[in-house]
Amino acid sequence: MSADPFRLGWFGNLTAPEWKTPYRGNDPLTWFNGDFHVDMVQNLERAGFDFIMLEDSLMVPDIYQGTAEIELKHARYAPKMDPVVAAAMLARATKHIGIIATASSTFSHPYQLARQFATINNLSGGRVGWNVVTSSEDRAAQNFGLDKLPEHDLRYEMAEEFMAAVKALWGSWGEGAILADAESGYYADFEKVQPVHYEGEYYKTRGPLNIPAGPNGRPVICQAGGSPRGRDFAAKHADVILAIPNGAAGAKEYRDDIRRRAALIGRDPDEIKVFSVVYPIVGETARDAEEKNAAWYARKQHNFEVQMTHFAATMEIDFSPYDPDQPIPDDVSTNGHQSTLEIWRKQLAGKTIREGFSGMRVQTTEMVGTPDGIAAQMDEFMQEVGGDGFLIYGQPISRQYVAEMTDGVAPALQRRGLLRTSYAHDTLLGNLNSFS
Ligand SMILES: Cc1cc2nc3c(=O)[nH]c(=O)nc-3n(C[C@H](O)[C@H](O)[C@H](O)COP(=O)(O)O)c2cc1C
Repeated sequence: MSADPFRLGWFGNLTAPEWKTPYRGNDPLTWFNGDFHVDMVQNLERAGFDFIMLEDSLMVPDIYQGTAEIELKHARYAPKMDPVVAAAMLARATKHIGIIATASSTFSHPYQLARQFATINNLSGGRVGWNVVTSSEDRAAQNFGLDKLPEHDLRYEMAEEFMAAVKALWGSWGEGAILADAESGYYADFEKVQPVHYEGEYYKTRGPLNIPAGPNGRPVICQAGGSPRGRDFAAKHADVILAIPNGAAGAKEYRDDIRRRAALIGRDPDEIKVFSVVYPIVGETARDAEEKNAAWYARKQHNFEVQMTHFAATMEIDFSPYDPDQPIPDDVSTNGHQSTLEIWRKQLAGKTIREGFSGMRVQTTEMVGTPDGIAAQMDEFMQEVGGDGFLIYGQPISRQYVAEMTDGVAPALQRRGLLRTSYAHDTLLGNLNSFS
């Protein structure tokens, strides 16, 4: 017995591609022109991925050791392009795949964001999604005129209002508002374009929007809430939810919990697709894959630096003053990604700072094998979870890794009848809700 067909999404960064591999080509310098990411998204579409999700952050981190040196040495957070702008280009270069762009509710205004996403939803023919984040760094807040980030749960409260305002703006053009009727002389019917007069505690907008929302009346909504507050938010608003689960059992717990929260507020849980983050290590033979995996763990100093800067950037906690050969202090807290801190706490328990960080990966489910071996592991994982999809995360991304997934693993999944071989619908929402 195998799992029902499931979906693949791709965790995309608009940052420098892998620049240390012998297969780097010229991309580490030329990616700024967009070609690397256009080629990547076209490959993902050829392989049957439902979407690429373009992550985002809004700062050059300098928390670790109080300087941006190690961050810029590894270039994990910066330079980074704006996903909303790049989404327009990627949509133009493709026909079927969904393009989900991250944008922060904390650092935007509802009118501006509703307009940008309405624009790309129109430009893409309904293939765009918005990954709603509330951001997690004071450094980002300081780039937007604030000293500190609003507190974690308050950010979600503000995001609730933000969503309400954005949805009202997307609804401000009624169906059939565009007439383009040369006979009557009316391009748009003013009675179908109405102000929204949204007024909350944090946001106020008059409306109407100056552009219709496009296909389906709205872009797809994506979210990755992990805390109880975040899960409620995701269960209420999202079509796509991203999660970093602790193995298949953790993924099942998370998905069941989201579905339960959705049902409690009267949503059909099947409207929501949960994507679990995985980072398959692929080899031509099982041994080759094992060696690659071992080589990853052997890059201790590199991994240590990368993970320490990553941790410092997202949690704004700097472990550099501590002795790396002592256990991790357990009295740390964050106003950033709270659920992620909990996952890390579990992974680091009982280890020294150096051991913990040099052996840490963002995802917590190991998949290592040949393309067909990975397909079998995904099948088994999905049988336990019960459905939806995987978000493939391989950072930093190389053309070689894209090929391993799009020409190796994806066809192996298709041969097993587990992955779509074509797109039956024109819009991302349509494809998410069916395989036919
Ligand atoms: C797969 C995945 C992708 C994410 N992408 C982003 C991102 O691009 N930008 C961002 O600020 N946060 C991102 N986050 C963080 C989430 O938006 C959220 O803050 C995090 O999951 C913690 O949730 P919590 O605040 O409810 O604990 C991502 C999280 C996950 C699991």
